[in-house]
Amino acid sequence: MNSKKWNITGLVVLLLFVAVTGCQKQTNELSVLPRPQSVEYHRGVFTVTPSTPIYLNLPETGRQALADYLQTTTLSAQPVSVVPVASGAIELNLNEGDDSFPDHEAYQLVITRKKVEISAAGEAGLFYGLQTVLQMLDNGDGQTLSAVTINDAPRFPYRGMHLDVSRNFFDKGFVKKQLDAMARFKMNRFHWHLTDGAGWRIEIKKYPKLTSFAAWRPFDELQEWWTGGRTFCDQNDPRATGGYYTQDDIREVVAYAAARHITVIPEIEMPGHSEEVLATYPELSCSGKPYTNEDFCPGSEKTFEFLENVLLEVMELFPSEYIHIGGDEAPKTSWKTCPRCQKRIADEQLSDVEELQSYMIRRIEKFLNAHGRKLIGWDEIRQGGLSSTATVMSWRGTEGGIAAVKAGNQAIMTPGKYCYLDAYQDAPKTQPLTIGGYTTLDKVYSFEPVPDSLDSGEAKRILGVQGNLWTEFISTPEHAEYMLYPRILALAEIGWSPAENKDGADFRRRALKAVEVLEKKGYHPFPLDQEVGDKPESFEPVEHIAIGKKVVYNHPYSKSYTAGGDTTLVDGVRGGWMYNDDRWQGFIDGDFDVVIDLEEITPIKEISAEFMQLKGPYVWVPKQVIISVSADGEQYGTLAVVDNDIPEEEETLQFKTFGWQGESQARYVRYQALSNGIAGGWLFTDEIVIR
Ligand code: ACM
Ligand code: ZN
Repeated sequence: MNSKKWNITGLVVLLLFVAVTGCQKQTNELSVLPRPQSVEYHRGVFTVTPSTPIYLNLPETGRQALADYLQTTTLSAQPVSVVPVASGAIELNLNEGDDSFPDHEAYQLVITRKKVEISAAGEAGLFYGLQTVLQMLDNGDGQTLSAVTINDAPRFPYRGMHLDVSRNFFDKGFVKKQLDAMARFKMNRFHWHLTDGAGWRIEIKKYPKLTSFAAWRPFDELQEWWTGGRTFCDQNDPRATGGYYTQDDIREVVAYAAARHITVIPEIEMPGHSEEVLATYPELSCSGKPYTNEDFCPGSEKTFEFLENVLLEVMELFPSEYIHIGGDEAPKTSWKTCPRCQKRIADEQLSDVEELQSYMIRRIEKFLNAHGRKLIGWDEIRQGGLSSTATVMSWRGTEGGIAAVKAGNQAIMTPGKYCYLDAYQDAPKTQPLTIGGYTTLDKVYSFEPVPDSLDSGEAKRILGVQGNLWTEFISTPEHAEYMLYPRILALAEIGWSPAENKDGADFRRRALKAVEVLEKKGYHPFPLDQEVGDKPESFEPVEHIAIGKKVVYNHPYSKSYTAGGDTTLVDGVRGGWMYNDDRWQGFIDGDFDVVIDLEEITPIKEISAEFMQLKGPYVWVPKQVIISVSADGEQYGTLAVVDNDIPEEEETLQFKTFGWQGESQARYVRYQALSNGIAGGWLFTDEIVIR
């Protein structure tokens, strides 16, 4: 092994060579995903035959684990050797202490006609070098490996995938299958969302009712449960749907993950998203009654006794340094009137319920720290003040993560707009129903986790990225895989590959290959080669006479969905499939009412605007549209009143154009779209077209 491999001068010369000779095409030959840091091509190939030995040059413990892992791969039939082989072998060399490798996950892979040599300073690096070889084999004919030198290392230490097993339960076999895929794409953190209001999924010996009751619902489908009272039932109830992992199951999964260099981070939700616990142990809630509160009562010592006992068993099962405690979306409503919570606020000299949440999170963090563990929470753990040591998982955008690293904390980036894989990945009418959102593979791939506004110290505290799969609308293993793949691969690449190597077209080429291989291996990915793409109107500017004219809003648009601001409705740009694409302008809890000034009296033959409806996120088409015109801006004459004909109960994404056609002339055009009156409801439109 030479130690020049990470020599910067050499790398710069290589990059210059690549830039000058434009040998992009050559690097395109490999379909390895995530794209390696550097690839140098040589002449010739190495051919793997049934007798090609694999020499595992590492100490006994790691060697046995690797030999066992090999049994599950394309190289399962190769003879394994523990002594050097003269030639014609695949060699894995662990060079512990070799500081020419940037970290324990880095590796070098050298393939010549004579041998395949993987070296690394850590077992993880050897494992990832092996993944590169396995991908090269699976992407090709299963035997031929191009001669290359690859030097590779991850950009971030945290490359995560999350799975919600509360809303719908997925068994350990499914979890292990996804761990295999994660390893293949060099992902190393599995965030297991084990508890939530819809079901508790981990056996806790001290609280058996969590799994004999809180893990079971008397409804097949989550949506029926949601509208049917959100109750739980005994495990032996004939209607019981759900499940949980025994502690043996958990140990099995954790060991399986560890053999793939994946750390499993368990999440135990608090203080919110805890209806299932409070239905089972109502004394932990403010009211003391089942099916009444969402949040634990932090005024009660019983709450801390329960959570600490649960966490003791959790820490026993999960060696992970980090434990996730949830922390998201707690309404805290009951805390405002609960005498115990109010007493806690007074005793601890807290100013409000936000600080009460902060008190609770800090207290739990101290408990974890006392047991040698660290706390991660969703970005709401910043409410009421964040401790200096907690790690923030930023999901409501990246702002929470940015604020955290600026304050000296660590953060993991998983903003909903890019990293939530429960959204539509293609034209909604071609896809199974989702919770909402439109997040294509390209969209995920466009995410950059480190904004320019951070200095290098702050940037370093961004540990990495994560893709999340929430399962409100996903109840089968096939459907879950369909949502995960290939989009999780974009996050695998963002987490691993240098930002400067980003190349959307090349990524898509490799993702197509990965989809093909995943299918062969029994996964159910979205067929990327059949992607339909965004709403056709969104690609073409629309011509009309109101473009650039002044729009007066009689009701303001929401600050959350401004699109292009005051000019967006007359900019000729149409929206895509989803309201959150920065092209649709949003209006909440009220009517849409604008006046457009055409500057002079103008002949008009058409006025129209399109609205969308998506029931899940409370986006509705208007109940009625009124279109009127005026010569002076004072006296209006109504041209049209158009009623809605899309029912509120409609579950699928709908679009409806409300318009008028005829002969008129006017200077001012007023377009009113009346809300259907459902509290918290939205109206979204993208353009007022006047011709
Ligand atoms: C979350 O999506 N509530 C973290
Ligand atoms: Zn309380």
